[in-house]
Amino acid sequence: MCGIIGYIGKQKAVPILIEGLKRLEYRGYDSAGISVISPPRVDEQSSLRVEAGNQQPAISKNGKIDIITVKATGKVSVLEEKINGKDIAGTIGIAHTRWATHGKPCDKNSHPHCDCQKNIFLAHNGIVENYQELKDDLIKKGHKFSSETDTEVIAHLIEEFNKKFDFKNSVLAALKLLRGTYGLAIINKKEPDKIIVARLGSPLAIGIGNGEYIIASDFSAIIRHTDQVIFMEDGEVAILTKENCEIVNMKNKSIAKEATKVEWSVEKAEKQGFDHFMLKEIFEQPDSILDAVRGRIIEKEGMVKLGGLRDVKEKLADIEKIVIVSCGTSYNAGLVGKYMLEEYAGITVEVEYASEFRYRKPLLNKNTAVIAISQSGETADTLAAIREAENKGALTLGIVNTVGSTIANETMAGVYNHAGPEIGVASTKAFTSQLSILALLTIFLGRQRGMSFVTGKRIATEMNKIPKLIANILKQAKDIKKIAKKYVQYQDFLYLGRKYNFPIALEGALKIKEISYVHAEGFASGEMKHGTIALIDKNFPTVFIAPRDSVYEKNISGMQEIKARSGKIIAIATVGDKEIKKIADDVIYIPKTLEMLTPLLSVIPLQFFAYYVGILKGLDVDKPRNLAKSVTVE
Ligand code: F6R
Repeated sequence: MCGIIGYIGKQKAVPILIEGLKRLEYRGYDSAGISVISPPRVDEQSSLRVEAGNQQPAISKNGKIDIITVKATGKVSVLEEKINGKDIAGTIGIAHTRWATHGKPCDKNSHPHCDCQKNIFLAHNGIVENYQELKDDLIKKGHKFSSETDTEVIAHLIEEFNKKFDFKNSVLAALKLLRGTYGLAIINKKEPDKIIVARLGSPLAIGIGNGEYIIASDFSAIIRHTDQVIFMEDGEVAILTKENCEIVNMKNKSIAKEATKVEWSVEKAEKQGFDHFMLKEIFEQPDSILDAVRGRIIEKEGMVKLGGLRDVKEKLADIEKIVIVSCGTSYNAGLVGKYMLEEYAGITVEVEYASEFRYRKPLLNKNTAVIAISQSGETADTLAAIREAENKGALTLGIVNTVGSTIANETMAGVYNHAGPEIGVASTKAFTSQLSILALLTIFLGRQRGMSFVTGKRIATEMNKIPKLIANILKQAKDIKKIAKKYVQYQDFLYLGRKYNFPIALEGALKIKEISYVHAEGFASGEMKHGTIALIDKNFPTVFIAPRDSVYEKNISGMQEIKARSGKIIAIATVGDKEIKKIADDVIYIPKTLEMLTPLLSVIPLQFFAYYVGILKGLDVDKPRNLAKSVTVE
């Protein structure tokens, strides 16, 4: 969690840092802070006068280099207001937006944190697991702490080493003592021409501009400035000056790294006229699915081409079992994948919460493929699961949206979603792109295991139609809003679905919980009568996903059971189904498609429903309380 941004160059740092923080706010938004190196005052008499053409406005009143820090509890806009009117003129600075792990959200716990002498300031994303023992030791040495955070120990450790080493070697020495994870951006008044950044387990990218560098937790904060990016890897430390970027490993050995050209545009990361990112991302789904399948489906051969799996193609043919590890929405996508892969590729699939998998003793071997599904590619539990799988000799694969992310880098092979940046905290377009990739994977693995050309072609043809079918559902946004208005006062919802749409019941319930803060339970519709039905009365409506598929009749019986107990029903049904209208109170229609692909359609009304209930309640749907977009802590 948390977002870090840093700037070093010729421009005023503050506007760049604030703009970057706003882009990173989805990573955490309970408090924010900024530290900028301010040059000495430049006046007529001063011997410190800087060269003409490289002149910087003055700020430090005492004629010395200073570090100006401003912190604020709350969103970045609160920090921005606090800074307004302050003349912070420096061209080197770091900033942070926080999602609290150690210490409650408040100004004193906000980053950047500093040492006793207020020379060293740093912004940190991650957790220092051994902070307490380090802190006790530092306190014995006379250090005074001013926050409750784990992060602050890093500043004091560097201060301690800085008594005998230069800045870089002090940072390296301090990092060696840390257990846990970090993405770090550090400045030091004693060497005010530098930012040092370091990465272990928390993402960091360095954007290369013209005589400037922008570092950030992800490149949505960088793309406005440059498309040339170096993705840092674990164990790397970069020493940035305006002119140079030196990258070393923990042994201070130089590492040569190439910049990558990032294709995402600035516009893609903006709201484009929609009220919220979530709504924009719901509407983007025809395009994001097209992007996910583009160039990958060879319809006339009933085949798919997945470049990221080329090197493991032979190995995949021998795989006997797949274990999908993921969390939240990505877990729900994995469940749909299980139904697809077992039915069409004839391969056993287990789906596990990554947070459980990492603490079990999973039975894996070289004939098991463990697939991590992750939008961010940074989810700590999923990453740990993949590492565990690799240790056990399994083949590790990723279905990841964020290019250059840790899970993408650490898995042996994989497929990118290409859904573009997902900024709304509630996952929407990433989910449908995950389902699309799973459908392609089903064709890929199925054709390796005897799936006929005809079946492969049928799935491929239907998959190609999905973007247009979704575009049709999107036209119903206003009607779904009307339905949401009818139900906005309810405090509890049951979501039911069966077979391919059981995971969609889970996903629909998750969406409304996180966006609208109402209680919702997702269930397999056949399970309802084994206990959950006791909840049903006129105040407990059910969202029933019941397209015309192989379990349609069973679902209709389930609906009758709910009606018999005075429960209200919103049904998601296949267009033309008049029968269902007689039972349900409200019906949202989706077009017809292949049964295995219905989740790609049935989830869209549920995303809209959650969104509209949320905004009708006046909630901030893009940044729901207590959540963060990328969960990089356990
Ligand atoms: C819900 C949501 C979360 C994520 C989960 C995994 O809308 O977004 O449940 O799906 O935190 O995140 P990733 O996919 O980034 O690993």
